[in-house]
Amino acid sequence: MVYITRRAVFSAAHRLFNPTFTDNQNEQTYDKCNNLWGHGHNYTLEVTIKGVPNSETGYLIDLKDLKAIMNEVIVSKVDHKHLNIDVEMFKGVITSLENIAAIFWNELSKNLPVGELYRIKILETENNWIEYYGEPFEIKRFN
Ligand code: NI
Repeated sequence: MVYITRRAVFSAAHRLFNPTFTDNQNEQTYDKCNNLWGHGHNYTLEVTIKGVPNSETGYLIDLKDLKAIMNEVIVSKVDHKHLNIDVEMFKGVITSLENIAAIFWNELSKNLPVGELYRIKILETENNWIEYYGEPFEIKRFN
């Protein structure tokens, strides 16, 4: 069994707010991240696949293929976009790191040709990141 990881980077804007909160509640909860027109991050995404390598190729997955899948399923849809406004998978969702990780998980796990998704790690800054291992939780959609 091996765990193999591919990294990708993308830049995106987002805004944290809950449409059922008052302006005051949103400010209290999200502070600067509640800024009306959003704010940007240079995100780093790491996707780890778990599985048994093929004995003929020596590969679990060709990293070129994993790169292409990550690009098609995620990076091409979010890079240089506003996550709340431009990106279908986040429609009505609070674009917290927590929710982003779980939504990326769902999108990627549907599109993996081999192995199983083991971990998604997303860095929002060099000091803030999330690791997600697929244990489900509720994500509210507000519209
Ligand atoms: Ni942010």
